[in-house]
Amino acid sequence: MNLNSDEIVYITDLAKPERDKGYTRTFYSYPAKFQAKLPRGLIKRYSSEGELIFDPFVGGGTTGLEALLINRRFLGYDINPFAIFVSNVKTTYIDPLILNENLKRFNLAFKEELKLNHDILDIDDKICLGEKISSEINKLYGIIHQSSDNSVIRHFFELALIHSIKIVGRRDFELRSRIESQSIKPTFLRKSTKMINEMIFLPKESLYQPKFILGSNHKVELKDNSVDMIITSPPYKDKDIEYQQIQIQRRSINRSKRSHAISTILGVNPLSKKDLCWTGRSGEEYWNNSWKSLKECYRVLKKNKFAFFWIGFKTLEDKTRFKSQIKTIKLHICETIPVTLSHDRAASGRSTHHGKKTGMMSKDYLYITKKT
Ligand SMILES: C[S@@+](CC[C@H](N)C(=O)[O-])C[C@H]1O[C@@H](n2cnc3c(N)ncnc32)[C@H](O)[C@@H]1O
Repeated sequence: MNLNSDEIVYITDLAKPERDKGYTRTFYSYPAKFQAKLPRGLIKRYSSEGELIFDPFVGGGTTGLEALLINRRFLGYDINPFAIFVSNVKTTYIDPLILNENLKRFNLAFKEELKLNHDILDIDDKICLGEKISSEINKLYGIIHQSSDNSVIRHFFELALIHSIKIVGRRDFELRSRIESQSIKPTFLRKSTKMINEMIFLPKESLYQPKFILGSNHKVELKDNSVDMIITSPPYKDKDIEYQQIQIQRRSINRSKRSHAISTILGVNPLSKKDLCWTGRSGEEYWNNSWKSLKECYRVLKKNKFAFFWIGFKTLEDKTRFKSQIKTIKLHICETIPVTLSHDRAASGRSTHHGKKTGMMSKDYLYITKKT
């Protein structure tokens, strides 16, 4: 019933920090994302071709992409429209020639005057980003919208634009880019070109195109005992993560703000932290949410199949409570693997949880459970 020592070594190794590379993995670094190596290794070892993998907190679609690349069926849920947006862009093949043609057209259009009837930034965004970059962002958004009727292509370039805004919003952008040439255009062109080159590696057609559903996982559209494997990472208690906002920091004017540009570009209302991270609620509401999600996992999982949960805690009490929820829904805990986290942003997006002042325990935990 429990894992043998080879398996424990194998999984512990999968959970070690390693920078993602290859395929469309680096399209966007969704906050608190898995490193691809972990879902890839688990899916390979514990499922077979054509089997159904489920991630109820799919985030940036890491598990969905890995399932696609090794021919598994996949279903993911998330309440954040941006998560579903990123997941779809990362897993939908578009002919790179068509993308390159579009990019060339954008480049030409950028040199022309453009009448804009939208503004995707608020006044504070503009103060932080500066007039030039702000008007370039609005222009790029306008060009993307005017020059393509195809929403799949538009979404591809909108993601490149969102990623570019994130890059120019970083603290060190001013230092890295010479003041007189500060512009988002080279970043957007470079990012788009890199994404187009990575698109080549996605399967053109797949029997197993992953499906991502926008909605809460408390009631999912899956039959009882229908899932072959679950890999997921739920929100962490008392930890609010910027799942839907871009941090913009301007050292020169000593300002930092969170931009709603993502929601504006997607045309959705921003969700509150209360909904995305289960924070701001009483502790009991966090546990109610967690309970409903875990219970649904149990319902859909086939007998004798694995569910993997990666989670971090602030207190031992919370760790004990999570473990007891898993046990109460009758998932058998085969193993709990402590995961040492990297403080190096380059190696692990997860380090966003574990700066020195976050109050998190020094390790996260990977719960390996089985429905018996
Ligand atoms: C830790 S992140 C998952 C990251 C993901 N493993 C990845 O690799 O990108 C947790 C996710 O849970 C989502 N979420 C929170 N409450 C939810 C709910 N009730 N149903 C579905 N998703 C939810 C958040 O929007 C967030 O994207």
